[in-house]
Amino acid sequence: MNSNQVIPAAEVTVDPAAFRHVVGHFASGVTVITTVVDGELFGTTASAVSSLSMEPPMMLACLNRSSSTHDAVQQAGVFGINILAEEQSELAMKFGRKGGDKFDGVAVTFSKEGVPLLDGALATIVCRVEETPTGGTHTVFLGLATEASAGNGEPLAYFRGTFGRLERVRELAAYNAVRDWVLRRRTPLRHELDPAVIAAETKSDPQNVHNALVKLTAESLVTRGDKGEFLPTPITHELIDSVYDGRATIELGVLASHFGKFTDEDIAELGRLTEELGKLRESGKDGLDEFLKLNVKYHDRLVNVAGSAQLTDAFRRLGIGTVWRQALGGDEWARQMDHSHIAELTAALRDRDEARAVKALGLHTAFGKKLASDVIERHGGEV
Ligand SMILES: Cc1cc2nc3c(=O)[nH]c(=O)nc-3n(C[C@H](O)[C@H](O)[C@H](O)COP(=O)(O)O)c2cc1C
Repeated sequence: MNSNQVIPAAEVTVDPAAFRHVVGHFASGVTVITTVVDGELFGTTASAVSSLSMEPPMMLACLNRSSSTHDAVQQAGVFGINILAEEQSELAMKFGRKGGDKFDGVAVTFSKEGVPLLDGALATIVCRVEETPTGGTHTVFLGLATEASAGNGEPLAYFRGTFGRLERVRELAAYNAVRDWVLRRRTPLRHELDPAVIAAETKSDPQNVHNALVKLTAESLVTRGDKGEFLPTPITHELIDSVYDGRATIELGVLASHFGKFTDEDIAELGRLTEELGKLRESGKDGLDEFLKLNVKYHDRLVNVAGSAQLTDAFRRLGIGTVWRQALGGDEWARQMDHSHIAELTAALRDRDEARAVKALGLHTAFGKKLASDVIERHGGEV
């Protein structure tokens, strides 16, 4: 097969969603690929970057043809690879989005060729494009390194959709697995959460599982019993109100402080997610998992507009959607999960109408609380 051949769809054997999940297990560093065309600066976050050859010194970077940085690199014939340091996750998020002036407020130093290099990057390499084979949706830019320098520090790591230090990323993966375990009620209410069993089942380090249970205790999702054992905390009306209010406060804050930052791409993506949510509701009973996942994506995308990894992280930690998986039976969910306020919120964002967006978000929160409250009531006051 020559390098420009695209694999026909009929030969694709792995489901794209499953493939994305599996590939996410490959831990990588994070870079920002930068370039300049006629004085205009371009940059995109990229993890599909690798060293290629030592003699001559070559690197490769894979960029989606839909990326504007892709076209700019092709035109400029030169690009910078900025390997991000562990404290630069906000830059990774900023350059991982489309539109806006990504370089606004970002300190750069220009290379001899005029390529902007991010100050504070762990290492930077400037490359001249040598070859551009393609694969699937991407162009592989093979570049000859013309400048390279490295500083001191630790790299930003990327693993299963999360940024962090490598050790921190493992801790976080364990935390997410334990949280999911607790909220899916894999250990029923009033039964002891056994760290050894959870560690074995989730293939996590037992110490990380213990730490996750302690953290979940602080977050009111786990309770310590008389003998210090860990027990799942029942979700009650009070707990629901506090997490829904916490999430609403973050989202309202994003609308209030960053309303002007919603790009056309953000709104188009929120529109696409809204449409998919609608379709899933119509499709009925088997779609709850998918509905909840899309719902998470929708709210994440909204909060991401603030460009703060910490805020997104705090927001995610207030999500308890998985508890509904076992509480809502059969096709009941499709009747219950009204998403009309989300549709209204998306429409208000599209019309750039902040007051309407705030109102829709308020109604959405009230609806979520009411639905949750009804489910809890039907389960005798706790889930
Ligand atoms: C952690 C992370 C890694 C990414 N890796 C790549 C990559 O290797 N190649 C790519 O084309 N896009 C990658 N992206 C997506 C682009 O950054 C994103 O599509 C961006 O909006 C493109 O911006 P542009 O159109 O202004 O160039 C990545 C995003 C993130 C957050």
